[in-house]
Amino acid sequence: MPTSIIVGAPTLKPNQEMLDSIAQNLRCYDYQPSRLDLRETVIKGLSRPRKQLPPLLFYCNEYGSDLFNQICDLPEYYPTRTEIRILEENKEEIAQFLGDRILLVEYGSGSGKKVYPLLNSLSDPVAYMPIDISKEHLFSYSELTSQKYPHLETIAVVADYTRDLDLPECQNQTPSKKAIYFAGSTIGNLENHEAIDLLKKSAQRVGKGGGMLIGTDLKKEPRILHSAYNDAAGVTAKFNLNMLTIINSQLGADFNLDRFYHYAFYNPIRGRIEMHLISACPQVVTIDNYQFAFEEGESIHTENSHKYGEEEFRELAEAAGFTLEKTWTDPDRLFGVRYLSLS
Ligand SMILES: C[S@@+](CC[C@H](N)C(=O)[O-])C[C@H]1O[C@@H](n2cnc3c(N)ncnc32)[C@H](O)[C@@H]1O
Repeated sequence: MPTSIIVGAPTLKPNQEMLDSIAQNLRCYDYQPSRLDLRETVIKGLSRPRKQLPPLLFYCNEYGSDLFNQICDLPEYYPTRTEIRILEENKEEIAQFLGDRILLVEYGSGSGKKVYPLLNSLSDPVAYMPIDISKEHLFSYSELTSQKYPHLETIAVVADYTRDLDLPECQNQTPSKKAIYFAGSTIGNLENHEAIDLLKKSAQRVGKGGGMLIGTDLKKEPRILHSAYNDAAGVTAKFNLNMLTIINSQLGADFNLDRFYHYAFYNPIRGRIEMHLISACPQVVTIDNYQFAFEEGESIHTENSHKYGEEEFRELAEAAGFTLEKTWTDPDRLFGVRYLSLS
């Protein structure tokens, strides 16, 4: 019998009423932002004096999520394999910090590559709740996960985790603790004040005694960063340009992809990689009755990826009420996995 039901949350209205699923231990909730939200975000971003679009848009079609998975396997892109290695090498200790019988929430779960080693090492976890904006990916991945872990309640939530969102309750068992896993240094996409805001929301979601495990990229030689975001095969360039395809197909815009190119660089003052799409010529782009003029060389800023020092991240965590308990890293100090507690 299908058991998965989509219900409304108090703070966000679901835009689809019900989904069926074959697995008994899987429930799916859909709070995907509407097309109108998307339109407003894009119009607002392109109307700024310095045009900017949020990185969330990268994942608004399946191709974007597929391209990100390809990036993770690139030789130049060290973060994914390094984070997995750190998790593998420290899984017992990480599991102890996370605790027994927990509800593990995951922000931006993607393909789940990293959470499986974590779920395998946890003691008697009660439920797993991936939250992601990429609906098709999330639902197919959650279905696989619920089959792989038949004794675990899997609760898939399509939502923007930066917005107000009350987590659905576990139905089968009451967890002794809630913890959030936020992998891939996705927190680095946020400006510091936005990161603090999300950490504060997370503190409310896990409550006192809860925790967060966060994968963060570390400051390093700019040469390494430069090649990670400018891979020889050009996959990151395709990923960046795909944002324009998404806007064309979902909002009826007329971006010509041949007239923009990918540009990524490390900004040492801000401690972040910046990704831009640069207009190759003077041009005008239309979305409905809006027209956006571009000069040659003008950019749309599509992503920041902040790199953190230890003290810098501690301050961020403390500003949201968390305590940074421990950072695990690799021998080359490329990446850090951090456990934050809330007392
Ligand atoms: C950089 S990928 C990381 C994927 C995976 N966690 C990893 O570490 O490889 C970011 C993931 O977060 C999702 N995502 C990005 N921003 C989001 C948001 N504001 N709300 C929900 N999901 C988001 C994307 O769909 C994507 O799956």
